[in-house]
Amino acid sequence: MNSRRNFLKQASAAALAGSAISPLLSWAASQNSTIDIPGENGLIVRSSRFLDLETPVEYFNTWLTPVPHFFVRNHMHEPSELDAATWRLTVGGEVEKPFTLTLAELSKLETHSVVNTLECAGNGRSLHRPQVPGIQWGKGAVGTARFSGARLRDVLQRAGIKPAGKHVMFRGLDDIPGKVPAFIRSVPLEKALDADTLIATHMNGAPLTKNHGFPARALVPGWIGAASCKWLTEIKVLDAEFVGNFMSPGYRFPNQPGKPGEAVKPEDTHPVTGLSVKSVISGPLDGARVAHGRVAVHGTAWAGEADVVKVEVSTDGGTNWNAATLGHDRARYAWRLWTYDWKAKAGDYSILARATDSQGRTQPSTPVWNPSGYLYNAPDQVKIHVA
Ligand code: MTE
Repeated sequence: MNSRRNFLKQASAAALAGSAISPLLSWAASQNSTIDIPGENGLIVRSSRFLDLETPVEYFNTWLTPVPHFFVRNHMHEPSELDAATWRLTVGGEVEKPFTLTLAELSKLETHSVVNTLECAGNGRSLHRPQVPGIQWGKGAVGTARFSGARLRDVLQRAGIKPAGKHVMFRGLDDIPGKVPAFIRSVPLEKALDADTLIATHMNGAPLTKNHGFPARALVPGWIGAASCKWLTEIKVLDAEFVGNFMSPGYRFPNQPGKPGEAVKPEDTHPVTGLSVKSVISGPLDGARVAHGRVAVHGTAWAGEADVVKVEVSTDGGTNWNAATLGHDRARYAWRLWTYDWKAKAGDYSILARATDSQGRTQPSTPVWNPSGYLYNAPDQVKIHVA
């Protein structure tokens, strides 16, 4: 399986490197991301109707998440056909010179890489109380990868943005089941023009797999995963935020925290954009039995557009907190690995982790409840037995 994957990745890479795109590329794309659910690659299947795969927390031990272990979030069916040779990206709307790019043309633009922690806004939804409807993600709808591709800014500047242009809309090639609204969203022009916002074609050095948006996806670093449209086929500059289901009522957050369980009026909400400060314990695992003595409590922490400045660990259910050591690997939008060296005596323990970021945000003991269950970020907690 692995060698088949590697062969296909190499085949895709080789085809991309050449100026003419081989039909092999489209065949490879349809093959190389096949996930034989349930649970291939050890991922947790949260939905198989539209593929939603969660990464088990024990995989969060590397700064970059290997692509086969990277969570997948689809609102609808993946495109049934993706052909690199016929794929086109159109750029239009409030621009002087609308144009269309082939994949070969896109690949010729200057490449930029961004290591980004991509998290689904609904990550941790199952932990909100009272519970809310939606995919019941645990802790693993998040991962970190090096995304590479052209800067969205370069493509927009080539088209020439008219003064009326204020937002940039992305449309993917999802197969839309029946009469449901298409997955179309927009980002403000300022974020679209950021030097780190990409039209990504590669993830961890290999062409995107189908699950992650082959042949090209938007990459809006530091923002909720929903901003990063997969299977990108249309970019449109708009004079206002896109109006559609996935901008409203979808992906909105209350302006003021309300009482858990209470409804929130649409006019009292705003779009969810940047990620919150958050940490996850990747070991010991919840329910583990470990020997007394030195125990490395470890995990990862991220903060969207901000930097993680501190991670603290409590081994007594949140009464006392101890500083963890942050890992050396770092990048502007990427998580930090951390570890806390604990001298454990026999007993039952509740271990918590909480992060603080460069904006002065610390994970709150009670997360802000909201009807869609977005941005859960209470301190992570595991219960373990030390023998
Ligand atoms: N893009 C399209 N076209 N269709 C989708 O359903 N899901 C979004 C985003 N881009 C989605 C999409 C959501 S909600 C998330 S969290 C990320 O993709 C997940 O990216 P991944 O599947 O590569 O991890």
